[in-house]
Amino acid sequence: MQKIVVVGSLNMDVVIETPHMPERGETISGRKIDLVSGGKGANQAYALGKLGGDVTMIGAVGKDAAGEAILESLRSVNVNVEGIRQMEDGTTGQAFIAVDDDGDNSIIIIAGTNGMVTKELIDEKADIIRESDIVIMQFEIPLEVVEYVKEMAVKEGKTVIVDPAPAVTGLPEHFWNGIDYIKPNETELAILTGMKMNTREELVKGARVMIGKGVKNVIVTLGKEGCLMVTEDTEEFFCPYKVKALDTTAAGDSFTAAFALALSQGKTYGEAVSLGQKVSSIAVTRKGAQTSIPTLEEVKTIWDE
Ligand code: RIB
Repeated sequence: MQKIVVVGSLNMDVVIETPHMPERGETISGRKIDLVSGGKGANQAYALGKLGGDVTMIGAVGKDAAGEAILESLRSVNVNVEGIRQMEDGTTGQAFIAVDDDGDNSIIIIAGTNGMVTKELIDEKADIIRESDIVIMQFEIPLEVVEYVKEMAVKEGKTVIVDPAPAVTGLPEHFWNGIDYIKPNETELAILTGMKMNTREELVKGARVMIGKGVKNVIVTLGKEGCLMVTEDTEEFFCPYKVKALDTTAAGDSFTAAFALALSQGKTYGEAVSLGQKVSSIAVTRKGAQTSIPTLEEVKTIWDE
């Protein structure tokens, strides 16, 4: 099995259950509030660990209770946390998440120590990247650091997976060059390309714009509609696994993790997409970020994987 490193964010999620999202200027009563370990990077690392992958995480937390809790959560599923720096003078990242009765969410993040991840920290942890086969990143740490890691990983011949979330505009064109896989959802793809996409044909066109920028493969997750995989010369739609969503938090993170796990085990990208769909479709039936991730055994009992 290949080694995987996740470079990215760690947050303490403050999750509010609410019947519906408040309108602008409206005050409503929520039902309940929970603290759950999260952060897109940490969720991916956690999911990889829980699914049985060989995973190390690089990032930063504060020397506070939230940081300790997130480290503990990662250790509990055998994630190697030696790449995570505990910052003396910063507060662990936080995410304020409202989840409504349809399972949809709205998230506001406060970067905290995620914003303090620097190229110098990456240099200090560069051996972890060199010793890994697959490098996964997202966009919740400074983008110049994401770009720095990407350049390093491409130069070292690693398989590079970027989950471009939260999506941003204005990245330099050369950023995309050499990335093996990106996994935007349709909203993120629209932001990255500046295109409106309502039909499958338009989604394929959007994905091809990213391939034109140098990305080798684009997986567009479409929620209840399944997902789309576009390579230089192929395109394939994958039907969804129908479930009743309770909380979609970390659906994308668990997809990315399961996809990477399958690649690390030498599976084809079609098999990897399928595992991503299975794991994320279980995650959305459960509450919270890391609390929603299944084991591979749980996946197997449902789908005989
Ligand atoms: O993708 C879900 C994650 O986004 C949450 O866990 C939250 O921390 C935000 O980073």
